[in-house]
Amino acid sequence: MRIQSAEFITSVGKLSQLPCDGLPEIAVAGRSNVGKSSLLNRLFNRKGLAKTSGTPGKTRTLNYFAVNGNLYLVDLPGYGFARRSVDERAEWAKLVNGYLADRSPLRGIIQLVDVRHDLTRQDKNLVEWLADADRPFLVVATKSDKLSGSRLKPRVDRTRATLDSLGCRDFLTFSATTGAGRNAVWQWIGRVARG
Ligand code: GTP
Ligand code: MG
Repeated sequence: MRIQSAEFITSVGKLSQLPCDGLPEIAVAGRSNVGKSSLLNRLFNRKGLAKTSGTPGKTRTLNYFAVNGNLYLVDLPGYGFARRSVDERAEWAKLVNGYLADRSPLRGIIQLVDVRHDLTRQDKNLVEWLADADRPFLVVATKSDKLSGSRLKPRVDRTRATLDSLGCRDFLTFSATTGAGRNAVWQWIGRVARG
């Protein structure tokens, strides 16, 4: 896909505020601090368009970015952030689960995991849930630049084996730092967004 423009459109804190123009959407989900916002910035090659942070819990709303004026990429708030209150977690669950379950323009979901670590219980729950739901999804193992080649391969093999056992076949490795995997992610988005 050729990126002519990428712009921030809106932050959504309530399901009632979701855009109603019907443009197709691809959402980026995953654990807090895994690198969702960084992946979007790398996809757009625009540092700082999506706000990133070393502190987990930066993205608290569904953040909409328009690509070429005809597709939304949606940055979701992360899960597994321990320092959130019970009320905040309930709010998160209502917003994100409600969005993933019922959003009709949603064409596909990119779930990020950290290539250096085994999937967490919540990562596995989401993969299983997505595998059961009737929507395309891609698992992207990110931060590949943090491992040397010889340490990367066994981690990728292990992640792939875990994903296979959970019923997930679409899997890529990625680095927001180097851009490795960027073209492959765009290819998947282009294929899925056309439906
Ligand atoms: P929340 O909004 O809190 O859910 O986090 P997020 O998933 O959007 O993570 P974010 O993109 O803010 O990145 C978290 C931290 O990881 C930041 O310090 C990033 O610089 C770093 N990071 C993200 N992706 C990569 C990557 O591919 N390589 C390296 N080395 N660091 C990364
Ligand atoms: Mg974020």
